[in-house]
Amino acid sequence: MERIAIYPGSFDPVTNGHLDILERGLKLFDKIIIAILTNPKKKFLFTLDERIEMLEESLKEFSNVEIDTFDGLTVDFAAECNAQGILRGLRAMSDFEYEFQMALMNRRLNREVQTVYLMTGLRWIYTSSSIIKEAAQFGGDIHGMVPPIVEQKIKKIFAVKR
Ligand code: PNS
Repeated sequence: MERIAIYPGSFDPVTNGHLDILERGLKLFDKIIIAILTNPKKKFLFTLDERIEMLEESLKEFSNVEIDTFDGLTVDFAAECNAQGILRGLRAMSDFEYEFQMALMNRRLNREVQTVYLMTGLRWIYTSSSIIKEAAQFGGDIHGMVPPIVEQKIKKIFAVKR
């Protein structure tokens, strides 16, 4: 049986921390479907097309990874994909409460799908899309924290806004 996981998130934008989780997740699953949240009520810096483009470019070296979008419940999308797992990364303790709550709710909603957490690599412990956007907004150097295409795009956005 093919072991499939979805890796849900906003990916606004994808970071090297995401890629690290994905790379390690591929040692556990045969296929991982990146599930980009499209929720129109959430405010994103990048459009859906931009988030997809940055992921596609960043994932060129990866095989057995697909990119898809979803709105609604993560567990419903996992079922649609015939996925047995939901992959998420866990960084500092501050992530834990939200992730624990989400994992328990997801389990209640669908007991067939298991949430699998991978501890972040030490290098990425303080890396998040939000903190990277904030640093970049004020001219901070984000080199090495995101794939090159993301670095270019973030710099362009904030150069225009400044
Ligand atoms: O990258 P993020 O923003 O931390 O990802 C959050 C995400 C997309 C995993 C979460 O918001 C989510 O699963 N949203 C879909 C709605 C849902 O199923 N919520 C959890 C159970 S109520």
